[in-house]
Amino acid sequence: METMLRVTDIHAAYGAVRALHGVSLEVAEGEVVALLGVNGAGKSTTLRAITGLMKPTQGSITFRGEDITGRKPESIVKRGLSLVPEGREIFSTLTVEENLRLGAYVSYSRETYREDLEEMFELFPILKERFTQAGGLLSGGEQQMLAIARALMARPKLLMLDEPSLGLSPAITDHVFELIAQLRERGLTILLVEQNAERALEVVDKAYLLSNGVVEASGTAAEVKAQVDLASIYLGGEDSDGTGVGM
Ligand SMILES: Nc1ncnc2c1ncn2[C@@H]1O[C@H](COP(=O)(O)OP(=O)(O)OP(=O)(O)O)[C@@H](O)[C@H]1O
Ligand SMILES: [Mg+2]
Repeated sequence: METMLRVTDIHAAYGAVRALHGVSLEVAEGEVVALLGVNGAGKSTTLRAITGLMKPTQGSITFRGEDITGRKPESIVKRGLSLVPEGREIFSTLTVEENLRLGAYVSYSRETYREDLEEMFELFPILKERFTQAGGLLSGGEQQMLAIARALMARPKLLMLDEPSLGLSPAITDHVFELIAQLRERGLTILLVEQNAERALEVVDKAYLLSNGVVEASGTAAEVKAQVDLASIYLGGEDSDGTGVGM
């Protein structure tokens, strides 16, 4: 499988706060990869650096064979990389339809728009029901669906999800993970950021465990699961955050 995304030794900082200290990771075409770690580990910062929202102070990022380090977010989105940010960030005063149309702006053409919309209705029937309603009137779970659908409307080659299950009920969380499994079956390449290591490791091929801005462990889902289990045994079983990561 060809490498789609290659992040090599990136460093990033917020003023004096250094958030990443040399993060490297790879995502191959068709792969679903998890980026795990506790609060403040540097997961969102890594995604921000990849999407051009933040410029790494060191290191490089290549996407589909092209160096995109330090490029503008718009140009990176055009190349086929979409991010569903933490906290969804849908446009709450715009309708569901308007939100979806904004997502499609990079690949907009009359025929594919209709076609893609039908596909979104299939994946997320609720969006068809709420098509003309303001995004802000949707429930948290529905807003998450809208945020994912909006990102998919751009027909990304790589979809990046930042904690899509955060703050959702167990039932809606199940739904989100089912959806990820469904997208995986369709062959979509995904980089999934999660704190819930146990759930994420059920749906991914490979995982990276971030801790304090560095990759602490990586490997196949099974290998990382074994390391995470081992760490939680050494740290005395119960984790304060209940994720099973324990570090
Ligand atoms: N806007 C900011 N200004 C200053 N420091 C920041 C900012 N955003 C993040 N940081 C710091 O950078 C480090 C990495 O944060 P980041 O948001 O990448 O973590 P995360 O792994 O996504 O955590 P979470 O699971 O809580 O979302 C943390 O130490 C955090 O305090
Ligand atoms: Mg985050």
